[in-house]
Amino acid sequence: MIVLGIETSCDETAAAVVNDKREVMSNRVLSQLDDHRPYGGVVPEIAARAHLEHLDRLVAEAMDDAGVDFADLDAVACTGGPGLIGGVMVGAMTAKAIAFATQKPFLAVNHLEGHALTVRLTDDVAFPYLLLLVSGGHCQVLIVEGVGQYKRIGTTIDDAVGEAFDKTAKMMGLGYPGGPALEKTAESGNPDRFGLPRPLRGRPGCDFSFSGLKTAVRTYLDGFPIEQQTAEVKADLAASFQRAVGDTLIDRTRNAIFEFMRDYPTGKTLVLAGGVAANKYLRTRLTELTDQAGMTLVAPPLELCTDNAAMIAWAGLERFRLGQHDDLDFKPRPRWPL
Ligand code: KG4
Ligand code: ZN
Repeated sequence: MIVLGIETSCDETAAAVVNDKREVMSNRVLSQLDDHRPYGGVVPEIAARAHLEHLDRLVAEAMDDAGVDFADLDAVACTGGPGLIGGVMVGAMTAKAIAFATQKPFLAVNHLEGHALTVRLTDDVAFPYLLLLVSGGHCQVLIVEGVGQYKRIGTTIDDAVGEAFDKTAKMMGLGYPGGPALEKTAESGNPDRFGLPRPLRGRPGCDFSFSGLKTAVRTYLDGFPIEQQTAEVKADLAASFQRAVGDTLIDRTRNAIFEFMRDYPTGKTLVLAGGVAANKYLRTRLTELTDQAGMTLVAPPLELCTDNAAMIAWAGLERFRLGQHDDLDFKPRPRWPL
Protein backbone atom coordinates (compact mmCIF):
# COMPACT_ATOMS: atom_id res chain seq x y z
CA MET A 1 0.00 0.00 0.00
CA ILE A 2 1.45 3.37 -1.09
CA VAL A 3 0.13 6.79 -0.01
CA LEU A 4 1.07 10.30 -1.11
CA GLY A 5 0.84 12.93 1.63
CA ILE A 6 0.66 16.73 1.40
CA GLU A 7 1.20 19.21 4.24
CA THR A 8 0.56 22.96 3.94
CA SER A 9 -0.99 24.01 7.25
CA CYS A 10 1.71 26.43 8.38
CA ASP A 11 5.02 27.55 6.89
CA GLU A 12 6.36 24.28 5.48
CA THR A 13 5.32 23.18 2.02
CA ALA A 14 5.73 19.42 2.04
CA ALA A 15 5.00 16.29 0.01
CA ALA A 16 5.98 12.70 0.82
CA VAL A 17 5.30 9.11 -0.10
CA VAL A 18 5.16 6.27 2.46
CA ASN A 19 4.18 2.63 2.24
CA ASP A 20 2.72 0.06 4.61
CA LYS A 21 6.14 -1.54 5.10
CA ARG A 22 6.83 1.60 7.12
CA GLU A 23 9.22 2.99 4.54
CA VAL A 24 9.45 6.71 3.95
CA MET A 25 9.90 6.47 0.18
CA SER A 26 10.35 10.23 -0.16
CA ASN A 27 10.03 13.26 2.10
CA ARG A 28 10.32 16.73 0.59
CA VAL A 29 10.00 19.75 2.88
CA LEU A 30 10.42 23.34 1.76
CA SER A 31 10.75 25.71 4.69
CA GLN A 32 9.45 29.23 4.16
CA LEU A 33 11.50 30.58 7.07
CA ASP A 34 13.32 33.12 4.93
CA ASP A 35 10.04 34.51 3.57
CA HIS A 36 8.68 35.14 7.07
CA ARG A 37 11.84 36.12 8.93
CA PRO A 38 11.60 39.86 8.13
CA TYR A 39 8.21 39.90 9.92
CA GLY A 40 9.36 37.95 12.98
CA GLY A 41 6.60 35.38 12.54
CA VAL A 42 4.47 33.53 9.99
CA VAL A 43 2.38 35.80 7.73
CA PRO A 44 -0.64 33.73 6.59
CA GLU A 45 -1.05 35.40 3.19
CA ILE A 46 2.64 34.99 2.34
CA ALA A 47 2.46 31.36 3.45
CA ALA A 48 -0.56 30.58 1.26
CA ARG A 49 1.01 32.16 -1.81
CA ALA A 50 4.28 30.31 -1.26
CA HIS A 51 2.42 26.98 -0.96
CA LEU A 52 0.66 27.77 -4.23
CA GLU A 53 3.94 28.58 -5.93
CA HIS A 54 5.88 25.52 -4.80
CA LEU A 55 3.50 22.65 -4.05
CA ASP A 56 3.12 21.21 -7.57
CA ARG A 57 6.87 20.99 -7.95
CA LEU A 58 7.32 19.39 -4.52
CA VAL A 59 4.70 16.76 -5.28
CA ALA A 60 6.44 15.94 -8.58
CA GLU A 61 9.80 15.71 -6.77
CA ALA A 62 8.38 13.51 -4.01
CA MET A 63 6.89 11.14 -6.61
CA ASP A 64 10.20 11.10 -8.50
CA ASP A 65 12.26 10.43 -5.38
CA ALA A 66 9.94 7.55 -4.48
CA GLY A 67 10.14 6.19 -8.02
CA VAL A 68 6.38 5.83 -8.34
CA ASP A 69 3.66 7.11 -10.70
CA PHE A 70 0.27 8.36 -9.68
CA ALA A 71 -1.11 5.04 -10.94
CA ASP A 72 0.94 3.23 -8.27
CA LEU A 73 -0.70 5.12 -5.41
CA ASP A 74 -3.40 3.55 -3.27
CA ALA A 75 -4.59 6.85 -1.77
CA VAL A 76 -3.87 10.58 -1.56
CA ALA A 77 -3.83 12.28 1.84
CA CYS A 78 -3.51 15.94 2.80
CA THR A 79 -3.73 18.00 5.96
CA GLY A 80 -7.38 19.04 6.19
CA GLY A 81 -6.79 21.28 9.23
CA PRO A 82 -6.29 22.70 11.76
CA GLY A 83 -4.03 25.43 10.45
CA LEU A 84 -3.77 28.64 8.46
CA ILE A 85 -6.76 28.26 6.20
CA GLY A 86 -5.26 29.69 2.98
CA GLY A 87 -2.47 27.14 3.10
CA VAL A 88 -4.73 24.23 4.04
CA MET A 89 -6.94 25.09 1.06
CA VAL A 90 -3.98 24.99 -1.33
CA GLY A 91 -2.96 21.52 -0.08
CA ALA A 92 -6.51 20.17 -0.01
CA MET A 93 -7.35 21.39 -3.52
CA THR A 94 -4.14 19.86 -4.88
CA ALA A 95 -4.77 16.52 -3.17
CA LYS A 96 -8.39 16.45 -4.31
CA ALA A 97 -7.38 17.24 -7.89
CA ILE A 98 -4.84 14.38 -7.91
CA ALA A 99 -7.34 12.01 -6.31
CA PHE A 100 -10.07 12.98 -8.78
CA ALA A 101 -7.86 12.80 -11.86
CA THR A 102 -6.40 9.43 -10.89
CA GLN A 103 -9.61 8.02 -9.36
CA LYS A 104 -7.84 7.26 -6.08
CA PRO A 105 -9.35 7.53 -2.59
CA PHE A 106 -8.82 10.88 -0.81
CA LEU A 107 -8.15 11.38 2.89
CA ALA A 108 -8.25 14.69 4.78
CA VAL A 109 -6.03 14.15 7.79
CA ASN A 110 -6.14 16.12 11.02
CA HIS A 111 -2.65 17.62 11.36
CA LEU A 112 -2.55 16.64 15.04
CA GLU A 113 -3.40 13.05 14.15
CA GLY A 114 -0.36 13.16 11.86
CA HIS A 115 1.86 14.18 14.78
CA ALA A 116 0.13 11.61 17.02
CA LEU A 117 0.66 8.57 14.78
CA THR A 118 4.10 9.25 13.23
CA VAL A 119 5.89 7.31 15.95
CA ARG A 120 4.27 4.14 14.59
CA LEU A 121 5.98 4.78 11.26
CA THR A 122 9.42 4.94 12.84
CA ASP A 123 9.22 2.74 15.95
CA ASP A 124 7.41 -0.39 17.15
CA VAL A 125 4.98 1.43 19.40
CA ALA A 126 1.66 -0.25 20.10
CA PHE A 127 -1.51 1.42 21.38
CA PRO A 128 -2.16 2.79 23.92
CA TYR A 129 0.52 5.40 24.54
CA LEU A 130 0.76 8.78 26.13
CA LEU A 131 1.59 11.63 23.77
CA LEU A 132 3.12 14.99 24.62
CA LEU A 133 2.66 17.20 21.57
CA VAL A 134 4.70 20.37 21.86
CA SER A 135 5.08 22.69 18.88
CA GLY A 136 4.69 26.33 17.92
CA GLY A 137 0.95 25.98 17.56
CA HIS A 138 0.10 23.15 19.92
CA CYS A 139 0.69 22.03 23.46
CA GLN A 140 -1.37 19.02 24.41
CA VAL A 141 -1.23 15.73 26.27
CA LEU A 142 -3.23 12.94 24.72
CA ILE A 143 -3.83 9.30 25.45
CA VAL A 144 -3.64 7.65 22.03
CA GLU A 145 -5.85 4.57 22.35
CA GLY A 146 -6.02 3.68 18.67
CA VAL A 147 -6.39 5.21 15.21
CA GLY A 148 -9.12 7.82 15.61
CA GLN A 149 -9.26 7.31 19.37
CA TYR A 150 -7.59 10.22 21.10
CA LYS A 151 -8.36 11.32 24.64
CA ARG A 152 -7.07 14.81 25.38
CA ILE A 153 -6.22 15.09 29.05
CA GLY A 154 -4.34 18.39 29.01
CA THR A 155 -3.83 21.48 26.91
CA THR A 156 -2.39 24.97 27.24
CA ILE A 157 -4.69 27.63 28.59
CA ASP A 158 -2.69 30.36 26.80
CA ASP A 159 0.50 30.00 24.72
CA ALA A 160 1.93 26.82 23.22
CA VAL A 161 5.44 25.92 24.41
CA GLY A 162 7.10 26.69 21.07
CA GLU A 163 5.19 29.97 20.95
CA ALA A 164 6.54 30.86 24.41
CA PHE A 165 10.07 30.11 23.20
CA ASP A 166 9.51 32.18 20.04
CA LYS A 167 7.98 35.19 21.82
CA THR A 168 10.58 35.18 24.58
CA ALA A 169 13.41 34.92 22.08
CA LYS A 170 11.93 37.79 20.09
CA MET A 171 11.79 40.00 23.21
CA MET A 172 15.43 39.17 23.88
CA GLY A 173 16.40 40.02 20.31
CA LEU A 174 17.55 36.47 19.55
CA GLY A 175 15.97 36.26 16.10
CA TYR A 176 13.47 33.98 14.45
CA PRO A 177 12.59 31.17 14.90
CA GLY A 178 13.22 31.61 18.56
CA GLY A 179 13.24 28.07 19.93
CA PRO A 180 16.61 26.90 18.59
CA ALA A 181 18.18 30.35 19.17
CA LEU A 182 17.04 30.44 22.77
CA GLU A 183 18.31 26.92 23.45
CA LYS A 184 21.69 27.86 22.03
CA THR A 185 21.87 31.06 24.08
CA ALA A 186 20.94 29.14 27.22
CA GLU A 187 23.88 26.74 26.84
CA SER A 188 26.36 29.05 28.55
CA GLY A 189 23.87 30.59 30.99
CA ASN A 190 23.25 30.25 34.70
CA PRO A 191 19.71 28.86 35.17
CA ASP A 192 19.63 29.95 38.85
CA ARG A 193 20.20 33.63 38.25
CA PHE A 194 16.65 34.77 37.57
CA GLY A 195 13.68 33.57 39.60
CA LEU A 196 10.84 32.86 37.19
CA PRO A 197 7.36 31.44 37.85
CA ARG A 198 6.39 27.81 37.25
CA PRO A 199 2.78 28.34 36.17
CA LEU A 200 0.25 25.76 37.48
CA ARG A 201 2.97 23.74 39.24
CA GLY A 202 1.52 21.58 41.98
CA ARG A 203 -2.04 22.03 40.77
CA PRO A 204 -4.11 18.97 39.85
CA GLY A 205 -4.67 18.15 36.18
CA CYS A 206 -2.44 18.27 33.12
CA ASP A 207 -3.11 21.71 31.66
CA PHE A 208 -0.27 24.09 30.84
CA SER A 209 0.23 27.83 30.99
CA PHE A 210 3.22 29.77 29.69
CA SER A 211 2.17 33.37 29.23
CA GLY A 212 3.03 34.40 32.82
CA LEU A 213 6.52 33.07 32.32
CA LYS A 214 6.95 35.18 29.21
CA THR A 215 5.69 38.27 31.04
CA ALA A 216 8.13 37.64 33.90
CA VAL A 217 11.02 37.60 31.39
CA ARG A 218 9.71 40.90 30.00
CA THR A 219 9.74 42.42 33.50
CA TYR A 220 13.37 41.40 34.05
CA LEU A 221 14.36 42.75 30.65
CA ASP A 222 12.65 46.07 31.38
CA GLY A 223 14.79 46.30 34.53
CA PHE A 224 17.97 46.31 32.45
CA PRO A 225 18.77 49.36 30.32
CA ILE A 226 19.58 48.16 26.81
CA GLU A 227 23.35 48.66 27.27
CA GLN A 228 23.26 46.33 30.27
CA GLN A 229 21.57 43.53 28.33
CA THR A 230 24.90 41.83 27.78
CA ALA A 231 25.46 38.41 26.28
CA GLU A 232 25.86 37.11 29.83
CA VAL A 233 22.53 38.55 30.99
CA LYS A 234 20.79 37.08 27.96
CA ALA A 235 22.38 33.68 28.46
CA ASP A 236 21.37 33.62 32.13
CA LEU A 237 17.84 34.72 31.31
CA ALA A 238 17.52 32.13 28.53
CA ALA A 239 18.82 29.38 30.82
CA SER A 240 16.45 30.44 33.62
CA PHE A 241 13.55 30.50 31.19
CA GLN A 242 14.37 27.09 29.77
CA ARG A 243 14.64 25.56 33.21
CA ALA A 244 11.27 27.05 34.20
CA VAL A 245 9.69 25.55 31.06
CA GLY A 246 11.32 22.21 31.89
CA ASP A 247 10.01 22.26 35.47
CA THR A 248 6.51 23.10 34.26
CA LEU A 249 6.50 20.41 31.58
CA ILE A 250 7.76 17.80 34.04
CA ASP A 251 5.19 18.69 36.67
CA ARG A 252 2.25 18.57 34.25
CA THR A 253 3.49 15.45 32.43
CA ARG A 254 3.94 13.66 35.77
CA ASN A 255 0.22 14.17 36.44
CA ALA A 256 -0.54 12.94 32.92
CA ILE A 257 1.48 9.77 33.55
CA PHE A 258 -0.56 9.10 36.72
CA GLU A 259 -3.77 9.53 34.77
CA PHE A 260 -2.54 7.32 31.93
CA MET A 261 -1.35 4.58 34.30
CA ARG A 262 -4.68 4.61 36.12
CA ASP A 263 -6.49 3.76 32.87
CA TYR A 264 -3.72 1.61 31.39
CA PRO A 265 -1.55 0.14 34.17
CA THR A 266 0.60 -1.72 31.65
CA GLY A 267 1.16 1.37 29.47
CA LYS A 268 4.86 1.89 28.93
CA THR A 269 5.47 4.65 26.41
CA LEU A 270 5.56 8.42 26.44
CA VAL A 271 5.82 9.76 22.91
CA LEU A 272 7.23 13.22 22.33
CA ALA A 273 6.23 15.03 19.12
CA GLY A 274 6.24 18.53 17.62
CA GLY A 275 9.08 20.92 16.89
CA VAL A 276 9.97 21.53 20.55
CA ALA A 277 11.07 17.88 20.71
CA ALA A 278 14.27 19.21 19.14
CA ASN A 279 15.22 20.78 22.47
CA LYS A 280 17.95 18.62 24.02
CA TYR A 281 17.56 20.03 27.52
CA LEU A 282 13.82 19.31 27.61
CA ARG A 283 14.39 15.83 26.20
CA THR A 284 16.88 15.08 28.98
CA ARG A 285 14.44 16.28 31.64
CA LEU A 286 11.60 14.19 30.18
CA THR A 287 13.83 11.13 29.98
CA GLU A 288 14.60 11.51 33.70
CA LEU A 289 10.86 11.60 34.36
CA THR A 290 10.05 8.51 32.28
CA ASP A 291 12.96 6.63 33.87
CA GLN A 292 11.50 7.37 37.32
CA ALA A 293 8.06 6.23 36.17
CA GLY A 294 9.36 3.00 34.60
CA MET A 295 8.34 4.24 31.16
CA THR A 296 10.23 4.82 27.93
CA LEU A 297 10.42 8.14 26.11
CA VAL A 298 10.17 7.71 22.36
CA ALA A 299 10.49 10.56 19.89
CA PRO A 300 10.48 10.20 16.12
CA PRO A 301 13.62 11.51 14.39
CA LEU A 302 13.65 15.28 14.29
CA GLU A 303 12.75 15.64 10.63
CA LEU A 304 9.54 13.74 11.38
CA CYS A 305 8.85 15.66 14.64
CA THR A 306 8.68 19.03 12.91
CA ASP A 307 6.02 19.59 10.27
CA ASN A 308 6.38 17.27 7.28
CA ALA A 309 4.19 15.36 4.86
CA ALA A 310 5.35 11.82 5.71
CA MET A 311 3.36 12.11 8.94
CA ILE A 312 0.26 13.05 6.94
CA ALA A 313 0.77 10.23 4.43
CA TRP A 314 1.28 7.80 7.32
CA ALA A 315 -1.83 8.90 9.26
CA GLY A 316 -3.76 8.65 5.98
CA LEU A 317 -2.39 5.14 5.46
CA GLU A 318 -3.34 4.08 9.00
CA ARG A 319 -6.90 5.29 8.41
CA PHE A 320 -7.13 3.92 4.89
CA ARG A 321 -6.15 0.40 5.88
CA LEU A 322 -9.00 0.47 8.39
CA GLY A 323 -11.33 1.12 5.46
CA GLN A 324 -11.72 4.87 5.92
CA HIS A 325 -11.59 7.69 3.40
CA ASP A 326 -13.15 11.12 2.91
CA ASP A 327 -15.38 12.70 0.31
CA LEU A 328 -14.06 15.17 -2.25
CA ASP A 329 -16.43 17.79 -0.86
CA PHE A 330 -14.47 17.86 2.42
CA LYS A 331 -14.16 21.46 3.61
CA PRO A 332 -10.78 22.54 5.02
CA ARG A 333 -11.04 23.29 8.72
CA PRO A 334 -9.08 26.16 10.36
CA ARG A 335 -10.04 24.69 13.73
CA TRP A 336 -10.31 20.97 14.24
CA PRO A 337 -9.85 19.54 17.72
CA LEU A 338 -8.73 15.93 17.73
O1 KG4 B 1 6.19 21.35 14.83
P1 KG4 B 1 6.77 22.64 14.32
O2 KG4 B 1 7.80 22.55 13.23
O3 KG4 B 1 5.65 23.58 13.75
C1 KG4 B 1 4.45 23.82 14.41
O4 KG4 B 1 4.44 24.74 15.23
O5 KG4 B 1 3.46 23.08 14.14
O6 KG4 B 1 7.35 23.40 15.58
C2 KG4 B 1 7.99 24.64 15.49
C3 KG4 B 1 8.18 25.16 16.90
C4 KG4 B 1 8.63 26.62 16.93
O7 KG4 B 1 7.89 27.30 17.90
C5 KG4 B 1 10.10 26.51 17.32
O8 KG4 B 1 10.61 27.63 17.99
C6 KG4 B 1 10.07 25.30 18.23
O9 KG4 B 1 9.18 24.40 17.59
N1 KG4 B 1 11.40 24.73 18.38
C7 KG4 B 1 12.09 24.71 19.53
C8 KG4 B 1 13.37 24.17 19.24
N2 KG4 B 1 13.38 23.87 17.90
C9 KG4 B 1 12.17 24.22 17.39
N3 KG4 B 1 11.76 25.11 20.77
C10 KG4 B 1 12.68 24.94 21.74
N4 KG4 B 1 13.91 24.46 21.53
C11 KG4 B 1 14.30 24.06 20.30
N5 KG4 B 1 15.52 23.56 20.11
ZN1 ZN C 1 2.70 20.63 13.51
